[in-house]
Formats: sequence, structure tokens, C-alpha cells
Amino acid sequence: MLMETSQASARPLVDTFGRSVSYLRLSVTDRCDLRCVYCMPERMIFMQRQHLLSLEELERVARAFIQLGVTKIRITGGEPLVRKNVMTLFNNLSPSLRDGSLKELTLTTNATRLADHAAGLAEAGVRRVNVSLDTLDPQRFTELTRGGSLTTVLKGIEAARLVGLAIKINTVALKGVTEKEVDQLIRFAHGDGMDLTLIETMPLGETGEDRLAQYLPLDSLRRQIEERWTLNPVALRTGGPARYARIEETGGLVGFITPLTHNFCEGCNRVRVTAAGLLHTCLGQEDAADLKDVMRASQDDRMLVDGIRAAIQSKPRGHDFVLDRMSAPTIARHMSNTGG
Ligand code: GTP
Ligand code: 5AD
Ligand code: SF4
Repeated sequence: MLMETSQASARPLVDTFGRSVSYLRLSVTDRCDLRCVYCMPERMIFMQRQHLLSLEELERVARAFIQLGVTKIRITGGEPLVRKNVMTLFNNLSPSLRDGSLKELTLTTNATRLADHAAGLAEAGVRRVNVSLDTLDPQRFTELTRGGSLTTVLKGIEAARLVGLAIKINTVALKGVTEKEVDQLIRFAHGDGMDLTLIETMPLGETGEDRLAQYLPLDSLRRQIEERWTLNPVALRTGGPARYARIEETGGLVGFITPLTHNFCEGCNRVRVTAAGLLHTCLGQEDAADLKDVMRASQDDRMLVDGIRAAIQSKPRGHDFVLDRMSAPTIARHMSNTGG
């Protein structure tokens, strides 16, 4: 496999708006063992397996991005830990952490299989994981995930804590749910040294549910939180879109991801590759470049690298989400397809 010359790879990935792309979100499957009501319909149609990149191809994509100056890779899905032999990918990328070409290798997971994989992830060099968790009420959890078990997820989180992984809880703000739950989520997360990030629901894909009825703007939720807790904004940036505040009473961080109420695209540093090898340079736009075809056309990485560079040149300015009861989803593909 031929690599770019060192001179060419020294050229960082910068888009036409001057944003450096240093962060790849690599989806390893669009499948999931849960069916969260804001994410997908109960009867979801998943990609056919023959369209998926192999683990070797996923690794090749990751390496090409590392060569192009990407220093952070987040493995996503669907649920990444349902992908067969996914630990091979983590283990094979581990040397790039050790030689410093990769600064962070991490994942976003629903934690249903985290108990089995936490130790392996830590051994591969993963230092922190983001866990999606929207409620601490067992029955509501089963309703929101259409069949999941809160106990399993809590065991996964505990296993990750025991092996020393830092954890950020991601909670999608849902009207009628999160207002009642947020205090308990804050106590739960901060009581165990975990951060908590709240996310506005985005109009991605059909779910069979009324998104507008689910939508809870975070400025309204934040005001409610501030009635009971003291929030001190902090300058901390993890490279993600969250804006953080420290809660004085707990000492913990709460993050706010506000794609609907406050656009954060001017600071965007990331691109996404789906499990089928489509490169999406924006979560909220339909543009895509097919890396699978260029990869399969040649064992030489030159075409792959050129394909990536060309796609970065057309990275859109940002998303343009509209939540409107009458309209179809702004973007037809589901979050589980694009990879969070
Ligand atoms: P950190 O590395 O912890 O900062 O994580 P992160 O925020 O980059 O990743 P995480 O998987 O926790 O992202 C949480 C959610 O934020 C995603 O699932 C999306 O819902 C949303 N999000 C992340 N990046 C973007 C983005 O570029 N655009 C939009 N609209 N939403 C995003
Ligand atoms: N809007 C916002 N967040 C979503 N997630 C899944 N679908 C949506 C959506 N439509 C969240 C999950 C998880 C992360 C990967 O994305 O809860 O935290
Ligand atoms: Fe699965 Fe995550 Fe979607 Fe829930 S939000 S169905 S856990 S991919």
C-alpha cells in the first residue's frame, strides 16, 4: 500500500471556510440492539451486509485519515459494539496511539455490551467513552428504547468505571421526560465523576414518532436547571460541539449540544464515514463521497487520499435543521446510519 509523500501528507485537511478537519467519526455498523424513539422506527431497515466495509477496510480508512493529520477517531454506529470482532479494529489502531500519530481513540456506545468489552477497550488505549442514556427509570428506559434493559446498561457503565475509563453520559432532551429526569441524571453522573451532556433532538430520518412533540429546546431546559442548580460557564472544549458549565453544587460538568437553537458549525472540525464507506462532511447535509469504490479500485492509497481531500473541499458551511410538524425530516438518513 503506497502512502502519500511526507510533503503531501504534511498538508493538513482544511476546508474552504478555513476549518481544519482533525476528527473522524467512523461508523462500523448501522445496526443497533435498541430502537430509541427519536433515532429510528421500530421496524428499521438496515444496510445489507454486503455493502459494509470489512474491518480491514475500516482500518484502511482510519489510517488514511491519520496520515492526513486526523488526531482523534471516534468509533460509532448504530451500536459499534454489536459489530462482530470490532475489538480487532481498536487493537489494530492502538499502535497509532502509542506512536502519537493518534491522540485519542474513543467510542460512543449505548453500553449494552460495554461490560464485555470495557477491559479490552482500556487495554487498546481508549481512555474515555460516551454513553447514551436518556432516563434512569427502568420502565421508561424500556419504553424509550423500545425494549432495552436499564440494568444491563448500568452494569456496562459500572464495568467501564472499574477499568478506569472516563465516561460522559449523552442524554437526548425529550419533552415531558428530561424536565423530570434531569436532576436525577445530574446526581447520577456527577456522583460518580462522570460528565453529562444534553443534546437537542435533530430531524434525521423517519422514526414513526412526532419529532415536534419530542423536541425540548435546551435554552428552556437550561433555565429550568438553573432554578435549582448554580451553573458556571467554563471555557473547556473537548473538540466537540458541546458548551459546558460546571455545577457548583456537584463540581461536575454539564454540556449543551444545541444544533437547533444555537448553530455551532463555524467551529466544526469533524467528518463522518459510514459503515458502507460514504464520507459525509456534514451531519446535517446530504453530500457524500464514496470511499468504498475508490478503495476497491486500487490497493494504492493515493486515490483514497485524493477522494478524501476533494470531499473536504466541498464540506458545507453547516447544517440547516428545521423542525416543523408538516415537513419530512431535514435529512433522510438516520443518525444510526451516519454515526452520531
Ligand atoms: P466529545 O469528544 O466528548 O466532545 O464528543 P462529541 O460531542 O464529539 O461526540 P458525541 O458522540 O458525544 O456527540 C454527541 C452528539 O452530538 C452526537 O451524537 C450528535 O448528536 C451531536 N453532534 C456531534 N457532532 C455534531 C455535529 O457536527 N453536528 C451536529 N449537528 N451535531 C453533532
Ligand atoms: N437527534 C439527536 N440525537 C440523536 N441521537 C440519535 N438520534 C438522534 C437524533 N435524531 C443520539 C443518541 C446518541 C448519539 C450517538 O446520538 O442518543 O447519544
Ligand atoms: Fe441505538 Fe443509539 Fe439509535 Fe438508540 S440512539 S437506537 S442506542 S443507535
